[in-house]
Amino acid sequence: MKKMGPIGIFDSGVGGTSIWKEIHTLLPFEDTLYLADSKYAPYGNRTKEEIISLSIKNTEFLLSQGCKIIVVACNTATTNAIKVLRTNYSIPIIGIEPAIKPAALKSKTKSVGILATKGTLSSELFHKTSEAFTEGITVTEVIGEGLVPLIEKGELDSSEMRELLKKHTSSMIEANVDYLVLGCSHYPYIIPQLQKILPKNITIIDSGEAVAKQTQAILAENNLLVTKKRTPTLRFYTNAETNTLQFLLKEYAEKISIEKKEF
Ligand code: DGL
Repeated sequence: MKKMGPIGIFDSGVGGTSIWKEIHTLLPFEDTLYLADSKYAPYGNRTKEEIISLSIKNTEFLLSQGCKIIVVACNTATTNAIKVLRTNYSIPIIGIEPAIKPAALKSKTKSVGILATKGTLSSELFHKTSEAFTEGITVTEVIGEGLVPLIEKGELDSSEMRELLKKHTSSMIEANVDYLVLGCSHYPYIIPQLQKILPKNITIIDSGEAVAKQTQAILAENNLLVTKKRTPTLRFYTNAETNTLQFLLKEYAEKISIEKKEF
């Protein structure tokens, strides 16, 4: 495997760019190639079979571009398809799962909330993790219905978004959670809106930094880490409009390229 190949990252859409930001911050000399499969978003309400077949499509495309590692920057794709991907491909594959373990360990009220897609919450992998780490903890699971389509449109702070967030968090507040786990890579973009709604004692956690650290560790283990100072090539492909990617990545505009492409 070539050390200079890009880190391939995919998500059902624009949300995984929250993970890309963590990866690029930690590994600033690595080339990256990000796929936003926005044409087929949201994945959250799709069947397991559909999610597997879309994940295979994205992985094949990233492999055809010479990627040295794949980061599945989507909880829904990870929890439904990572087993199949790891069976089919020999390249290292990193996934993202809701940070339920740290939340359960840290919770003082013994009550945690998780906001994720239907696909993630109904998956076997999520159930296994949740069962393994939440003994004695009340877990309030809420499907973030409607959130991903709004974020895909770049609508982070509309009245519709604020109403949905109030609705989705009410049962968690009632259950006295002190940790809210964001189980979807789109959701870090709505942390400021959530903070306005939630009581101050609730800590929001996501898995972005953990995924970046895991990517670094696996690259190092496989002798694939680029540590020499260089200017990387940072490409973003979407199979829908480029507007939202441009908006969410505006602070990187000078150093990245965003292109519409069929994949
Ligand atoms: N961003 C994805 C996740 O982390 C999926 C959102 C969706 O397409 O439903 O779960």
